[in-house]
Amino acid sequence: MRFVTITTPDDWHLHLRDGDVLSRTVADSARQFKRAMVMPNLVPPVTDTAMAMAYYERVMACKTNLQPLMTLYLTDHTDRQEIITAQRSGCIQAVKLYPAGVTTNANAGVTAIEKTYDVLEAMQEVNMPLLVHGEVTTAETDIFDREKYFIDEQLKPLLERFTNLKVVFEHITTQDAVEFVIQADTRVAATITPQHLLYNRNHLLSGGIKPHLYCLPILKHNHHQLALQQAAISGNPKFFLGTDSAPHARNAKENACGCAGCYSALAAIELYAQVFDQLQAMDKLEGFASHFGADYYGLHRNESTITLVKKPWQIPSQLDYADQTIIPLGAGETLDWQLA
Ligand code: NCD
Ligand code: ZN
Repeated sequence: MRFVTITTPDDWHLHLRDGDVLSRTVADSARQFKRAMVMPNLVPPVTDTAMAMAYYERVMACKTNLQPLMTLYLTDHTDRQEIITAQRSGCIQAVKLYPAGVTTNANAGVTAIEKTYDVLEAMQEVNMPLLVHGEVTTAETDIFDREKYFIDEQLKPLLERFTNLKVVFEHITTQDAVEFVIQADTRVAATITPQHLLYNRNHLLSGGIKPHLYCLPILKHNHHQLALQQAAISGNPKFFLGTDSAPHARNAKENACGCAGCYSALAAIELYAQVFDQLQAMDKLEGFASHFGADYYGLHRNESTITLVKKPWQIPSQLDYADQTIIPLGAGETLDWQLA
């Protein structure tokens, strides 16, 4: 039997939600991850340090070993003082930019990036990274092109204007994004999800629509999937693990207007291992999953380890989600690797 032991991984992009589902989401992530960058798109959004600290306490009340790293939700009205407060709190690691309306609970997001310049200036001064949902929001732009256009229209000018701002291009989905991140300077990094490594838009749309594979940014053409796979196994420290695990109850996904988001938290590291092994790159998993993200954020690497064993198991077909159910990513499928 094959065993692979790696430094305990961290999830650099995670949606835990709130309330009575927290015990489920936190426990699932804690199964494999030590730390998680917790996204702030709650209802209402986590827009200030006090809200983030209260949310932190609710996550900690779940009494798992998951260490939540908190983020603030940037709005048109965030002010520079809030960034100073966030920095001093020691609790906030980053600020998340959702262009207004771009995704789930993004209605309070930024309507025009210029409105945040003062805040971005302050972030740059205190070395607070900006995490970017990189898609344009113009309704007429084709949904498959929204990330590509974001690079030229928004991201490049932003990086040129704020030459010391650290920016993580979250959940990248295109070859364009891969190429952009490779040529950018080292303050730019990107997270990659398991769904964008494992699937492309044929999985979503061919032979019947699969609402549980619908997420944003949407799955793209197969050649983008291949580019993401190569980036993930390249050993380039600019690319690291961020699941974007984003739970929505089954009835909200299997719906005439289904929600965007895939729930991968339960089997996340095994899903990534599946891809890395298929590409004969298991030796590259540790850097991607456990080293590069911590290095980017200037945090220590975890001291503990996890062991994966090559022993097939089946992802459950559904999970309890408070008083509802949720369909996990890869439901019912067999994975080759499991946590020992
Ligand atoms: C996320 C969610 O549901 O919060 N959905 C998704 O499809 N990824 C939001 C996001 O990260 O876009
Ligand atoms: Zn997300």
